[in-house]
Amino acid sequence: MTFKVLISDPLSEDGIKPLREADNVQVDIDTGLSPDELIEKIGDYDALLVRSQTKVTRDIISKASNLKIIGRAGVGVDNIDLSAATEYGIIVVNAPDGNTNSAAEHTVAMLMSLARKIPQAFVALKNGKWDRKTHVGVELKGKTLGVIGMGRIGAEVAARAKGQRMNVIAYDPFLTKERADKLGIDFGSVEDVIKVADFITVHTPLIKETKHLINKEAFAKMKDGVRIINCARGGIIDEDALYDAIKSGKVAGAALDVFEEEPATDHRLLELPEVIATPHLGASTVEAQENVAVDVSHDVVRYLTEDVAKNP
Ligand code: NAD
Ligand code: MLT
Repeated sequence: MTFKVLISDPLSEDGIKPLREADNVQVDIDTGLSPDELIEKIGDYDALLVRSQTKVTRDIISKASNLKIIGRAGVGVDNIDLSAATEYGIIVVNAPDGNTNSAAEHTVAMLMSLARKIPQAFVALKNGKWDRKTHVGVELKGKTLGVIGMGRIGAEVAARAKGQRMNVIAYDPFLTKERADKLGIDFGSVEDVIKVADFITVHTPLIKETKHLINKEAFAKMKDGVRIINCARGGIIDEDALYDAIKSGKVAGAALDVFEEEPATDHRLLELPEVIATPHLGASTVEAQENVAVDVSHDVVRYLTEDVAKNP
């Protein structure tokens, strides 16, 4: 029996070695397929591996007559219709650990760039402007970082912020006093966090409860001149409310790696000088991409060659 695996987003070649080296597994790489092209092909495959570009919709899943497993090389599974997958008996696996470090490092890079206006100063200098007045920043030392979502990435960001001598206050429904004490941070409700923070960074999944968690009402409760970072998921922050809060001067700046609609090349937030942004690069390092591809490839090989092959 040969299992056919389709990889429809660019994944690390080193990372997919477990698939290439497995017996009875054929790997096809076909990236950039349109939804219709994927629908046409998917019926031939036992497994599908994606990053975040491919939207694995109900339409695609309903045509995937041989599909047994979908592997997501990364954390967020919001690009996969999980209820459709469950309905059709298809397993979904992700790789939750492999990109934690890269996403945390990217968040810290965004935090520091935001505080010191490095991207704005760089663009000005590239355009021939030696402007030392416009790009005056603020220090991190002694400021309070509010972390919403203290899972893998949030906790790493909190630890690194302490290295910058920031105070950290966090909210997570599973954060206990014991854990907060151990991490040397304060904790409270979302409201407690947003009221006192000078910088706020979100690290929750995008789910019903976190959609527009940071909205108009939340901005109104924040300190004047607060700065916002989102390297988690577009949609946790209400983009219209963020735009208004920046325009009114309530929010001094925002650093965004993610957007509600991606790609976001033509977004009004990008027109604001207070906004710095990257195109969803949190996990885009050689190391993270290899880690997540290895993890998910192992899971797919194990499932196909052990579970499915033995119980066809
Ligand atoms: P995680 O599951 O380890 O942590 C998420 C945390 O959010 C959990 O501790 C959970 O209890 C908490 N949470 C859930 N609902 C909450 C709520 N209503 N309020 C506050 N906290 C809540 O996930 P992670 O690996 O730390 O990833 C965090 C986010 O970062 C995810 O959205 C993930 O998709 C995203 N991510 C983005 C990139 C990128 O490239 N920008 C890379 C990796 C992960
Ligand atoms: C994730 O959820 O892992 C991130 O969005 C990283 C990615 O795959 O781009």
